[in-house]
Amino acid sequence: MQTVEEFHKMLNEAVTHIKSQISFTPEIGIILGTGLGSLVDGIEMSGTVDYDTIPHFPVSTVESHAGQLLFGTLSGKPVVCMRGRFHYYEGYSFKQIAFPIRVLKALGIHTLIVSNAAGGLNPNFKPGDIMLIKDHINFFPGNPLIGPNDDNWGDRFPDMYEVYNRGYIQIAREVALDLKLPLQEGVYVGLTGPCLETAAEYRMLRGFGADAVGMSTVPEVITAHHQHNKILAFSIITDMGLADNMHPCSLDDVIGAASRTEPKLRDLIAGCVARM
Ligand code: HPA
Repeated sequence: MQTVEEFHKMLNEAVTHIKSQISFTPEIGIILGTGLGSLVDGIEMSGTVDYDTIPHFPVSTVESHAGQLLFGTLSGKPVVCMRGRFHYYEGYSFKQIAFPIRVLKALGIHTLIVSNAAGGLNPNFKPGDIMLIKDHINFFPGNPLIGPNDDNWGDRFPDMYEVYNRGYIQIAREVALDLKLPLQEGVYVGLTGPCLETAAEYRMLRGFGADAVGMSTVPEVITAHHQHNKILAFSIITDMGLADNMHPCSLDDVIGAASRTEPKLRDLIAGCVARM
């Protein structure tokens, strides 16, 4: 098992390398989910650091995810974007998924913004909708906080009170209203994938109180909450998981729907960052 000292050594090596490449202190981290890579178009770029040059950083194996940290200014705020994220279904451990989030904190972020593609469980949703994540259900078979706890980072038993920052939720509602953008709200359930769900599973997840289902976000959000980051998160609903109305769903469907909705989410996130 990795000790706290080993973790610190790895973290220091990663952060030292990044700081040798770019002198920039980000305040806000943004994880760009499936098909959302072009959110970076609105960013005044300062520089990038490729994942495969950063010691101990995982390398993204999914074709639709590039692999770099991108530093720049969005709506006047210094941000760092993760272009490409790490999923449990790729074979990474929860500790590996958590590592980049620890690195972002060590670089200076106080806030993490997360986006993802998700299947809609709430029958009032439709593909192309944006859902503001108000809460989540961890349906992964593990937790990134398992193992020795570094009390300098966060509590051994963090409570899950207000994981998704209420002030940011209010800001997102106001920005959506200003942009005349319909905004759904709900609970995200995260599970392993890589297969999508059966009709019976969609029915169960809906019964558990979830509005959208996906294969990411929960491990990163738990890590960010543990290290006292404020969190804002959105799902793009790319397909519907309605047990009594099932359709075939391909990766192209998911990426296509995410890409079509991307400009709206880009404006929404830019507007939120301006008010943070
Ligand atoms: N299920 C799980 N993950 C997903 C889905 C889905 O229906 N759509 C996009 N990501």
